[in-house]
Amino acid sequence: MPTTQKTDVLILGSGAAGLTLALRLAAADISVTVVSKGKLTDGSTFYAQGGISAVLDETDSIESHVADTLDAGAGLCREDVVRYTVERGPACIEWLVKMGVPFTRTEDDSGFHLTREGGHSHRRVIHAADATGHAVQTTLESLARAHPLVHVLEYHIAVDLITAEKLGQTPQRCHGAYVLDIRRGVVTAVSAPAVVVATGGANMAYLYSSNPFGASGDGIAMAWRAGCRVANMEFMQFHPTCLYHPQSRSFLVSEAVRGEGGKLLLPDGTPFMAQFDDRAELAPRDIVARAIDHEMKRLGVDHVLLDISHKPAEFIEEHFPTILRQCLALGYDMRTEPLPVVPAAHYTCGGIMTDLSGHTDIHGLYAIGEAACTGLHGANRMASNSLLECLVFASAAAEDIAANIDFGNRPTLPDWDESKVTDSDEEVVVSHNWQEVRRFMWDYVGIVRTDKRLARAQHRIDMLKAEIDEYYGNFRISSDLLELRNLVQIAELIVQSAMSRKESRGLHYNLDYPGTLPHTADTVLKPPGRST
Ligand code: FAD
Ligand code: SIN
Repeated sequence: MPTTQKTDVLILGSGAAGLTLALRLAAADISVTVVSKGKLTDGSTFYAQGGISAVLDETDSIESHVADTLDAGAGLCREDVVRYTVERGPACIEWLVKMGVPFTRTEDDSGFHLTREGGHSHRRVIHAADATGHAVQTTLESLARAHPLVHVLEYHIAVDLITAEKLGQTPQRCHGAYVLDIRRGVVTAVSAPAVVVATGGANMAYLYSSNPFGASGDGIAMAWRAGCRVANMEFMQFHPTCLYHPQSRSFLVSEAVRGEGGKLLLPDGTPFMAQFDDRAELAPRDIVARAIDHEMKRLGVDHVLLDISHKPAEFIEEHFPTILRQCLALGYDMRTEPLPVVPAAHYTCGGIMTDLSGHTDIHGLYAIGEAACTGLHGANRMASNSLLECLVFASAAAEDIAANIDFGNRPTLPDWDESKVTDSDEEVVVSHNWQEVRRFMWDYVGIVRTDKRLARAQHRIDMLKAEIDEYYGNFRISSDLLELRNLVQIAELIVQSAMSRKESRGLHYNLDYPGTLPHTADTVLKPPGRST
């Protein structure tokens, strides 16, 4: 019989946000359990390329980083949050350096090499060649694994949060989560006075995505079901340049390639970005992705080109070793030829609404990293501000948990009830619906939307939801079923948010409302039954 497990802080997710929080809390003598539905490395953090933005050069300034972030966010960033994040950036980088992350140094070894990316008016992106995420993830992971106060549960997927309301108690607060041991098929209640959602983004809602398969928005969907508000889900970011290869999954070609001089070209070699924005290749991502989409549709082509072959081969080998290796494996040599590229779903700007300490609407429940909507990104995230946000808000949440959580307070949690379910007889329903949702989201809720396309998507979501709810109620859960259930919930949150925005702004472009309104606000969705 499964029994309740206990921990002081339950951290759902093991990317930059989850592991930073785990190490910060452990350093404050607080024991934590980190749950990851795959290996610890399975999140987006491991794949991050370009780097982390922070003001690290004396010619740069906090004001400039704040101004660039506000500009990229197209009028919806919260300026206090932007300032809070940017001001804490340098200290977070210092912490990573202290932890041992091997950032690339300048040629003369006088400091760290800083690269440039879209929207940034200065070189301010610190990086480890073109595999920054690998360096951050593996460094933090080895420290976490070695720490006696960090307990790691790999191949365990959080199913749902356990709240006072679900236990029929008041006042509302979070008491833990049900967690499925994927390999044993057993669900356990994990009790914790503080639960932190650090489950990353929801970009697998789209057919083509730069993200690993696990980016199914589980934490956002769980928090929504538990009663938290979710904001700005229409602002799904499409990265302009993923390698186009019919036989391969979308592989990101870092924006740093454009930062170091890469040019976008039409298939006949004509440059086109200057017609769309004065900053050309270094305009913010929403503008570049839309320009590529526009040119691909205008010409009826399946990709454009990204060319950095004018740079010396040694420069490319030194700065982009991972991308070069991956492209060579697929038959493209970026040292001598342009790469075929297309946009793909990359980043979830919206998410669970939080404040500056990572609090959600439910006491004892925090959200950090890509799963959260802090107000930093507004309608479009600026490149390399995401890892920064993970670090800053993990640190803020750690301080808040250490100062305010009463670790003695915990009720008895009921066991997971499997009395009414049987083994599934039709797994194909799950794989079929998983493909279907991702395809119609790509076709109807992608870079360019219309009211009619959004209504079509909602219609399909209604049918899928009914089918999945029935399946969920009758059969034993699996990780695939849980992810599908969450993904369909996410699709609905994106569509509902997109439908309620009657303008085009940042990453949301609707042909029925092509203009930008003079005044606007966040799109805040409230779970059914919630009045405030
Ligand atoms: P993740 O790193 O995605 O980790 C999520 C974790 O949650 C994983 O461990 C996952 O297994 C776990 N999880 C999810 N659901 C569950 C569940 N139900 N139960 C248990 N565990 C669960 N940003 C930058 O700032 N700079 C860059 O250079 C950059 N490059 C990028 C390149 C690529 C290819 C991609 C995909 C993203 C890039 N980003 C970059 C974005 C950035 O990497 C992510 O936003 C960031 O890493 C998110 O970190 P996180 O800790 O919130 O989530
Ligand atoms: C990239 O390297 O282009 C990704 C950077 C980011 O998503 O912030």
